[in-house]
Amino acid sequence: MSESDSQPEPAADAYLDSIRTHAWRHEIPDEAVPWRDTAEMILGNERKMLRWLATHWFSGLGSVVDAGCFAGRSTVCLATGLRDNARAKDCAKPIIHAYDLFRVPRDAFSRDILGSEFPVGSSFRPVFERATEAYSDLIAIHEGDLKAKRWNGSPIEILFVDVAKCWLTNQHIISEFFPHLISGQSIIIQQDYNTPYVPWVHVAMEFLAEYMAFLCDEDGSKLFLLTKPIPAELLKRNLRTEIKTDHKIALLDRAIAKWDPQSAACVAASKAMLVFMEQGMQEGLACLEPLQDGFAGVPAAAGYFRDVRSMIEFWKVGADLENDMTEKFERETG
Ligand SMILES: C[S@@+](CC[C@H](N)C(=O)[O-])C[C@H]1O[C@@H](n2cnc3c(N)ncnc32)[C@H](O)[C@@H]1O
Repeated sequence: MSESDSQPEPAADAYLDSIRTHAWRHEIPDEAVPWRDTAEMILGNERKMLRWLATHWFSGLGSVVDAGCFAGRSTVCLATGLRDNARAKDCAKPIIHAYDLFRVPRDAFSRDILGSEFPVGSSFRPVFERATEAYSDLIAIHEGDLKAKRWNGSPIEILFVDVAKCWLTNQHIISEFFPHLISGQSIIIQQDYNTPYVPWVHVAMEFLAEYMAFLCDEDGSKLFLLTKPIPAELLKRNLRTEIKTDHKIALLDRAIAKWDPQSAACVAASKAMLVFMEQGMQEGLACLEPLQDGFAGVPAAAGYFRDVRSMIEFWKVGADLENDMTEKFERETG
């Protein structure tokens, strides 16, 4: 069923207010979200947010997509939330669709979480299955490259995106999953929005901004509500190749102008990243300093600009960075 086939009731204003005021931070105790003492890809308040949304926001109108589930932490938070939600009891199962390559990547942080028994390139799906065992009735596992996956066509109510690590994956999420969001009901959680290396996320969300309402930030994530159906032709537009650099920069400038200083600084640093990727190293570095000067009093800004500078100096060629982001999780050897 497509978005246009379902006409849900408008989302309750009271719950929207709860989301805007981060209700999960005080309603969900620390001990209710697992792995709180270990190194994590998503932090404590993000885990509480996922659990809270699954309990209080999920209405049964659509599925929950966990795009980039890794070892299952986001999935478990969503599943425990659904267990506490009476509306989920009568829903057809599975409700959660969890996507991942399940291939051990090269980076030390991921490998620390997975444990030393899993060499680079091997499957870590057993770790996910163990972690989510108690909720297996709720979860469909989709193993493999998300860019090759087709969505089943049913409505999507909660879309958690923690996999948009390059233009291509980001584009596939937009063209394959966004058409099935429910206006007035679907929440999109962009887990990478609050990092400065992902201009594709910032460009895309601004390109679609008139169809979304920003709800809140939670750690790395920004939450959006789909407010009206997005025209199909916009979702099919290849944002990397079919819109010019100037247009992308204009979108980023619009985002910078509307966000709070911290998010604005993040997107400003991302603008230098975009210029690096599209125009080259000197151009990317040249726009960093004037951008940074505009955020002198913003505490997080220096870190964003420092990180982007070192990324540019390390990669030197934007395409190298993109290739690495694309292949990072797919290489068989370290
Ligand atoms: C930041 S981690 C996700 C963390 C997870 N949400 C959690 O709660 O711990 C990103 C995940 O995306 C997966 N990934 C990256 N590119 C992918 C692709 N093209 N297709 C499927 N999964 C991909 C990686 O394998 C990795 O597990």
